[in-house]
Amino acid sequence: MSDSREWTPQAIQAEIDALKHKPGALLPILHAIQNRFGFVPEGAVPIIAESLGQTRAEVHGVISFYHHFRTTPPGRHVVQVCRAEACQAVGARSLERHAKARLGIDYHRTTPDREITLEAVYCLGNCACGPSVRVDDRVLGRVTPEAFDALVDELGTQPLEVLG
Ligand code: FES
Repeated sequence: MSDSREWTPQAIQAEIDALKHKPGALLPILHAIQNRFGFVPEGAVPIIAESLGQTRAEVHGVISFYHHFRTTPPGRHVVQVCRAEACQAVGARSLERHAKARLGIDYHRTTPDREITLEAVYCLGNCACGPSVRVDDRVLGRVTPEAFDALVDELGTQPLEVLG
């Protein structure tokens, strides 16, 4: 993670203050914090709760309800495999098995070298070209296991066995 993405209470408060007067502010605030820092830090929860007049449990409840929100920093790259129906019909399940085996991690985990975080996603708007994968801001279609391996090589991660 670069220093520019390290969070501080002041930076969290600034994101909250920019949005807290809008109706239903909690979700936009969580999105803004994750967009800026890559995740929603545990330390942000009491600040959000106090600013919005909600309990910490309520804020936690929303964070854990939505798969989208991370509570730990992601790796250098985020790889998301589409699990929605159209992609499943053309092989997404076997692709996700392959992705987990290739990276040696489950969803919502990061490779030991901190290069890749693997996540599930539900439709990337690329349904006609599944199985679809998003790598950071890039959406890729018709991703075969071989193409996935090439992608991982391109991203620079090492297979788990060589990590020592
Ligand atoms: S179902 Fe996978 S991109 Fe829409």
